[in-house]
Amino acid sequence: MAAVAKSRVAIYPGSFDPITNGHLDLIRRAAPQFEELVVAVLQHDTKDADFPLRERLEMIRKSVDGLANVRVDSFDGLLVDFARQQNASLIVRGIRAVSDYEYELQMALMNRKLAPGVETVFMLPGEAYGYLSSRLVKEVCQHGGEIDDFVPAHVAEALRARRDRKG
Ligand code: PNS
Repeated sequence: MAAVAKSRVAIYPGSFDPITNGHLDLIRRAAPQFEELVVAVLQHDTKDADFPLRERLEMIRKSVDGLANVRVDSFDGLLVDFARQQNASLIVRGIRAVSDYEYELQMALMNRKLAPGVETVFMLPGEAYGYLSSRLVKEVCQHGGEIDDFVPAHVAEALRARRDRKG
């Protein structure tokens, strides 16, 4: 009997508020491993995210321009429902340090309970990005620190514009 080819669509979900070079590094590592990688941006209420969904999507799309098998989309509600809609059987998450593991393990096990056919794959970002997070980059920017090593140029610009607007 001929083997049935499995769908190799993977979802890389997150808040991406905003996308950092750490996220991008992971996207670049993950994309070649799958037929398609869908970067899935959690919609959030505008009050929860610093950047509105439209801006977060724009920033990611500009950052992944040229990566042929990467698609950027948004979702609301359960991640596993979005994965099913996309015919994806894999969720990709990055683990930077042991401290990420507990939260990631909990999420992965909950998602597997909710959708037994959907597996989570953990990947390691490059060592240079082990300390990077959207939250810290925003904090550094807010206090006038240098952020150009942490995010793509257009994201750094957006962060500085947001800081200057807020005063
Ligand atoms: O980048 P983040 O903020 O750590 O990403 C968290 C995210 C978006 C992956 C997670 O909050 C999520 O999947 N939210 C959707 C709601 C959901 O499915 N919750 C149950 C997962 S245990």
